[in-house]
Amino acid sequence: MPTSSQQSRLVIDYQNAMSSVVGEEHGISEADLDDIGGKVSQHHDRLQSEHDAGEQKWMDLPDDTALADRIVAFASEVRDTYQDFILIGIGGSSLGAIATIQALAHPYRNMLPDGKRGGPRIFILDNPDPEKVAATLDTVDLGKTLVNVVTKSGQTAETMANFLVVRDALIEAVGEEQARKQIVATTDPASGLLRQLADQEGYRTFPAPPGVDGRQTVLSAVGMIPAAIAGIDVHQLLAGAKAMRDRASSGDVRANPAYLLAAISWIADNRCGKSMLVTMPYVDALYGISDWFRQLWAESLGKKLSVDNEVVYAGQTPIKALGAIDQHSQIQLYTEGPNDKLIQLIAVGGYRDQVDIPTPPESIPDLSYLKGGELGALLDKERVATAWALANADRPNLSITTPVIDAFAIGELFYLLELQTVMAGALYDVDPFGQPGVEAGKNATYALMGRDGYDELRRELELRPNNAAAYRNAP
Ligand code: PA5
Repeated sequence: MPTSSQQSRLVIDYQNAMSSVVGEEHGISEADLDDIGGKVSQHHDRLQSEHDAGEQKWMDLPDDTALADRIVAFASEVRDTYQDFILIGIGGSSLGAIATIQALAHPYRNMLPDGKRGGPRIFILDNPDPEKVAATLDTVDLGKTLVNVVTKSGQTAETMANFLVVRDALIEAVGEEQARKQIVATTDPASGLLRQLADQEGYRTFPAPPGVDGRQTVLSAVGMIPAAIAGIDVHQLLAGAKAMRDRASSGDVRANPAYLLAAISWIADNRCGKSMLVTMPYVDALYGISDWFRQLWAESLGKKLSVDNEVVYAGQTPIKALGAIDQHSQIQLYTEGPNDKLIQLIAVGGYRDQVDIPTPPESIPDLSYLKGGELGALLDKERVATAWALANADRPNLSITTPVIDAFAIGELFYLLELQTVMAGALYDVDPFGQPGVEAGKNATYALMGRDGYDELRRELELRPNNAAAYRNAP
């Protein structure tokens, strides 16, 4: 694999997850890491051979700089033309874009004046929630709106329904011919209903990469188009991912940060009873990353069957939290409730803004400890204090620190967490790809909506005691 010229800069501190700090029962020991090292290294070799054989295609996404070039060109063509941009997609088709934009764009980007914002306002339609969809259509100027419909399968009910609503509104506002020009579809290059419609109507299209699950497409056109529209440097996203790929190229569990995190999570769950994994950044901008990771961890590891088709009911429940807000909500439970969680904190070496805390009135001497302080320093001290308090209560935790928040660092984080998840799947002995549980719900929705070919499933659903009609009769 080609190597990146820039170095990965993330720092991982897992001392508070170790038995030397939180005790043998709750913490990872060096012996645990020794024990798992052989399995990790075998799976590393397997992943490498699969990659060499053309599988594990998600690992190649950071190399597609030609696609990034096309996306940058597309974004610079449309950013000044449109006032509004609507992304329609759900799950892996929107969470990565949301995480990237939340991390790297101004938090109130949509409210900034045109000149200061740069590029269109961005609206996300993921849920087919009539109130949100109606409100979005009420807010945007359809004559100046670019619509990006994103579905890898090309048929997800929520996305297709939202798209049909927006497409209809667009046609009504600007006419059929112009509406087609205002739609760009990101979907499978060859198959699916959206592909058919896009070909029929002549939409501009970008590929959802074949052979890559939706939740691992953030570094493809799926995540990069909305990011580029928001003015984010998508080449730097790819460069960061590449740098992490280089750094995480060893099969040694202690030398590879992604494998180390996977091993810690797996041992924490399987030997120490930590059936939940909390991801808690100490900066609002990275809250979207914990949301994106929540889907990645849940859909990849939550599996009924092992790779040998044995019933295992595997998985570790991912929880998203935000420091310091959740210190006033969740931390009481994490510190004193059931000791069933591993907590990964995400820290920032330096915030992008500095806000000094003004000198408090002398008449309130108890506030004088804030004198000369700064908000970022306060927030980071809260993280250090929380990590200490958790460890002091024998609650294992670790910190992933990014020195700064920029596109390179976000690319690094994405790749790190993706590889961590794939290795965790191997340790759980499940296939981290595919999502049969999601598909079951999607199929049941098609059946309930009367889609052709789903009659048998519909009859089955109607016979269930917990069907919708029975539920309505409950007291
Ligand atoms: O990870 C996945 O593949 C899923 O979560 C999908 O992203 C999600 O179900 C949306 O699917 P699609 O992109 O096919 O509309």
